[in-house]
Formats: sequence, C-alpha cells, structure tokens
Amino acid sequence: MERLDKILVSQGIGSRKEVQKLIRSKSVTVNSELVTKPETKLDPDEAEICVKGRRLSFKKHIYLMLHKPSGYVSATEDNLSATVMELVPKEFMRKGLAPAGRLDKDTEGLLILTDDGDFAHRLISPKSKVYKRYYAELDFGITEDDVRKFREGIELDNGEKCLSARLEKAGETSAFAEICEGKFHQIKKMFAACSKKVLYLKRVSIGGLKLDGNLPKGECRELTKTEKDALFIGI
Ligand code: URA
Repeated sequence: MERLDKILVSQGIGSRKEVQKLIRSKSVTVNSELVTKPETKLDPDEAEICVKGRRLSFKKHIYLMLHKPSGYVSATEDNLSATVMELVPKEFMRKGLAPAGRLDKDTEGLLILTDDGDFAHRLISPKSKVYKRYYAELDFGITEDDVRKFREGIELDNGEKCLSARLEKAGETSAFAEICEGKFHQIKKMFAACSKKVLYLKRVSIGGLKLDGNLPKGECRELTKTEKDALFIGI
C-alpha cells in the first residue's frame, strides 16, 4: 500500500506539491470514487486511478532506449553541457530516472535510461557479464596482435587491467569491440594501448539488444518486455 500522492509523483504526473493540489481540487478518482486526501493509501497495481478523467496506466518502473547523439553528457545534471535528460520527453520523465551507464559526450548510440536502480546496477556490473558492443573508426587498421591483446586483457597506461574483450575487424580502419565493464573512456584507452586513435565511436548493442535502426538520433522510446529481457541474453 502506498500514498496516492507518492504514486502520482512516481508516474511523472507532477511534483509532490502539484499532485497534492490536483488531489485536493477533486481531479483524482480511485476505483471511480473521488479521493481528496493525498495521504490515502492504496495498492497501485490493483486500483484504477484516473487523473482528470484519464486512466493512469501504473508502471512501477520505466525502461527507455535512447539513440544518443554526440554532444550530450550521460548524467542527470551538468554545469557546462547539455545532458541526455534533455532528450527525454515529458511523458517519460520520472523521479530517479537516470542513464544506466555512461557514454562519452562524443560517443553515439544505444543508451538505456531507467528509474530501476537494481536493474541499472545489474546491467552495468562486470559481474553480470553483459557485453556492450561498439563500432569504432580508427586512424589505423587493427592487427591479429590487437585481437589477441583484447582477448588476453589489455593493461591500460595507468596499470589497470581490463577483463577479456572481443575485437573484430569491420572495415579497413574500423572494428567492433565488445566489453563487459565500463571503465572511464575504456574503449578509447584500449585502442590507445594498441597505438590506435578512436575517431568515431558508437554503441550498437547491449547484451542481446540492438539499437533500433528506426529510432532517429536524439529520440527515445520505451523498451518492450522482450527487449528488456534481451539485454541479459547472450551472457
Ligand atoms: N568507451 C569509451 O571510450 N567511450 C565510451 O563512450 C564508451 C566506452
């Protein structure tokens, strides 16, 4: 059982103050009965809640796929740069919504946003062995030695050791790289350890979920149940 005002805030209806005002102004019904007390307790999975006559489809958590463009930082707040949160339409906005993991400001591609902290942790944690696949354009082509180094675990210039990673040739000077951890600038640093500079980087998939080719850059949409599960496939 949860407070009505808390439920409405969690669903992005408004701030605590705003939803309390809505409730007191007789705009909310629960199971067709007018409810004017914000502290009323109910089970959001069972009750039919309507706000201004519109039925609320209660979701405990939200899971979004964003096609991140270059130029946005993967954070909820930043003093200097635009954040990925600015790309989230109002109807998806929720308390606690945040990117699950980070892509650099100049990296494009698949970014998951959710207000489900446990889920985000599971997706990011190297222990989960969820591989993130990147397409990279480089200043030089990769060699068999680079593939071996990735597989054996690259040692970064600060001495940090990376877990085993997959590397495969895409074109003359491009490659696909897969890692299951997320150290700061990891892919760029791994290529740097092979004397290569990353000129362009895009995340193309996470686990068994590919970036939707029809999702324009800068846009996001909710994941389907199948897509959400696919994130943990292929582990
Ligand atoms: N590795 C990087 O270097 N940058 C990213 O954005 C993601 C992984």
